[in-house]
Amino acid sequence: MVANSNLTTGKLEKILNEVSKVVREEGIKRDAKLEKIARILHDGVPYYDWVGFYLLTPNEELILGPFVGEETDHDRIPVGKGVCGRAGAEQQTVVVQNVAEESNYLACSDAVRSEIVVPIFVEEEMIGEIDIDSHTISPFSEKDSNFLYQVACKLASLFSQIEED
Ligand code: SME
Repeated sequence: MVANSNLTTGKLEKILNEVSKVVREEGIKRDAKLEKIARILHDGVPYYDWVGFYLLTPNEELILGPFVGEETDHDRIPVGKGVCGRAGAEQQTVVVQNVAEESNYLACSDAVRSEIVVPIFVEEEMIGEIDIDSHTISPFSEKDSNFLYQVACKLASLFSQIEED
């Protein structure tokens, strides 16, 4: 059975609505929103075992932002390195269905079997990415890529507004 066969369109729409609500919430900062959104994705999809965000700096590094799951040593990743860095270099979604077969991979935890990384764009400029690790081999399909693309589109507005500190 495919891991995501229970991911109905209705369920994904419900998660997207929850994400939209958090994006629009007032009175909380961007990182608090990202953490809530990571939690919604993590709790909403059974095989999303680690959900986090990396933000791209002008000097081509990905900096770890809010996440839900195990701690990771990879809090700064140069563009090109690992699955996250590859998505940064190619500026497109990267899916690794079995990390054991991927040579350009930075291991976070022995439990991880697969990974999907989806870029976040603001006005055609890549500003970061959604990174998801799974403990299941080959859990991801086009459903995940399309769904996470829609999440990334919703997140864009968080980065096009000036944050007040
Ligand atoms: N596995 C990633 C590193 C980040 S962790 O998954 C949190 C990679 O290869 O880029």
